[in-house]
Amino acid sequence: MSDASLSQEHHTFPPDPAFTAQANGTAQMYAAADADFEGFWAQQARDRVSWATGFEQTLDWSGAPFAKWYVGGRLNAAYNCVDRHVEAGNGDRVAIHFEGEPGDTRTITYADLQREVCKAANALESLGVGKGDTVAIYLPMIPEAVVAMLACARIGAPHSVVFGGFSADALNTRINDAKSRVVITSDGGYRRGAPSALKPAVDAALAAGENPVEKVVVVRRTGQDVAWDDTRDVWWHDVVDRASDEHEAQPHDAEDPLFILYTSGTTGKPKGIFHTTGGYLVQAAYTSSVVHDVHPETDVYWCTADIGWVTGHSYIVYGPLAVGATQLMYEGTPDTPHRGRWWELIEKYKVSILYTAPTAVRTFMKWGHDIPEKFDLSSLRLLGSVGEPINPEAWLWYRKWIGGDRCPVVDTWWQTETGTIMISPLAGVTTLEPGSAQRPIPGIAAEILDDEGQPFTEADKVGYLVLTKPWPSMLRGIWGDPERYKETYWSRFGPKYYFAGDGAKYDADGNIWLLGRVDDVMNVSGHRLSTAEIESALVSHPKVAEAAVVGASDETTGQAVAAFVILRQDAVQEADEPGEGVDLVKELRNHVAKEIGPIAKPRSIMIVSELPKTRSGKIMRRLLKDVAEGRDIGDVTTLADSSVMNLIQEGMSARSE
Ligand code: WT7
Repeated sequence: MSDASLSQEHHTFPPDPAFTAQANGTAQMYAAADADFEGFWAQQARDRVSWATGFEQTLDWSGAPFAKWYVGGRLNAAYNCVDRHVEAGNGDRVAIHFEGEPGDTRTITYADLQREVCKAANALESLGVGKGDTVAIYLPMIPEAVVAMLACARIGAPHSVVFGGFSADALNTRINDAKSRVVITSDGGYRRGAPSALKPAVDAALAAGENPVEKVVVVRRTGQDVAWDDTRDVWWHDVVDRASDEHEAQPHDAEDPLFILYTSGTTGKPKGIFHTTGGYLVQAAYTSSVVHDVHPETDVYWCTADIGWVTGHSYIVYGPLAVGATQLMYEGTPDTPHRGRWWELIEKYKVSILYTAPTAVRTFMKWGHDIPEKFDLSSLRLLGSVGEPINPEAWLWYRKWIGGDRCPVVDTWWQTETGTIMISPLAGVTTLEPGSAQRPIPGIAAEILDDEGQPFTEADKVGYLVLTKPWPSMLRGIWGDPERYKETYWSRFGPKYYFAGDGAKYDADGNIWLLGRVDDVMNVSGHRLSTAEIESALVSHPKVAEAAVVGASDETTGQAVAAFVILRQDAVQEADEPGEGVDLVKELRNHVAKEIGPIAKPRSIMIVSELPKTRSGKIMRRLLKDVAEGRDIGDVTTLADSSVMNLIQEGMSARSE
């Protein structure tokens, strides 16, 4: 079968009976959850998590939309992810095979991890971190990131992990919003063959103004020189290595916060999504088991996400470790030192379960299947996809060239807010439909609503995805802003429906197809970015008067950031000088990188004299999107000044010539 013919026929893939025979996820689970929703989740909680004190009530929804799961239950998440596996006699099992980008390796067993987490917990306590204190973690993909998160969980200090690719400014905002007194960072990490510094961004974030930070703990990773503040900075190896490797894990309430993770919403200000301990851990363990089908005795699991995103939280740290899995953790990028690096690692570690994003798959497609073909990928038995819709072509390519025409592919839909996987096929049960996340997993309820908020089931009609029942790993709110939580998620279609922000449709077989965001949130390479946040970054530049940002579809990254900018009067003349416009665009792109992070850099910035606005003054992003995607703009009669669009479109086509 050629790549071209892959996409032309409609293929579905029934489960392989051999897979079904060993699968953790079963058809009966759907029936069990339908018959007794709370009973089902109570059972999951008892089967998958060790409780210091059993819970009295599975769900308290009386304060909806503020949920309480496993009321009265007490547990320690770090104990569940580490100690109990050691106590069960599995201390020698590898928890993490770490591979640094330069090729350095570390093997960390569950017994090692227990010692490291205990030491780090003791060290944090010696620095004054106690239960309820938030700790900011700004680290590359190194084992200390996992250790730091679990040490926080052990103490009951909610962690707030900030993606290492975010800028000093973004870090500053998050530190202040969460009021973190301690930051854990490193001198740097390895990126595309060279050390890339991290600590200077922390220094800049803390120099930017008042902040609550008392201590910065610095992991030595690259050995590069770092500026040092003796009153504030301590080396990880100084405080952690000399700490005791014994630390008693106190049980925490099921509803004690486990972590905060900032994500982009429709406004300029990122939201601190917070998750609590019991429900989150239950659903993380449940989904690692039934969706990823992890068999801890035999599998080698690899999730390629960064720990700075929710995927890293749930499917590098809490899910796989709660089930006692052996996993691979890789620091670097897929193209360093060569484009076969991932496949080399799969061959080397005999990875059996791979969880990655469609944007990566599409990049590999572009590079050609002859690269993975050079490696032995026969250890793989399940492939997962997450972060954005996976187009059927990419799905089929993934199954064929990575999965050897044998591995099921599960497309998993969820969000930072949902905490863990919500919609996905079960590989041993579902006949797989390439491109579709298919149906809610057992215990989860979703519907699609029309503009009037009415649920429908007709095929091919486009509507809004909503979740109709609470779920254990649901966000418990937005840190410090309960009203915004209600308003953002539980008001669009009334208090009964959690509005996810995604468009969706059913096909004729009742499968759910996710169609992307319906709000002002973009998805670039599976990373969530807000149009408003990038607009405010642009207008914070002294030369910019006004900015509009849209997500334009992009073959590889799903969407790309396209910006339209009106300059301030004095900057206009300057930009008209020959060559200056190009420099200005570069300057603005770098400015966005500085304000938010390189991932937010616009792919294109067009300098315009006007933006298309309705008569009431609202920017018509739909039109800008049409232009950015190279479509002819249709009817512009609702515009206050329709000539604006002609100018913009002419400008755009002049540029692409
Ligand atoms: C948004 C959530 C899920 C963890 C990583 C992203 C989009 C996510 C899928 C999928 C279609 C998907 C949605 C969602 N999304 N997975 N399998 N199919 N779309 O988490 O940053 O909170 O983003 O990512 O639009 O709302 P996030």
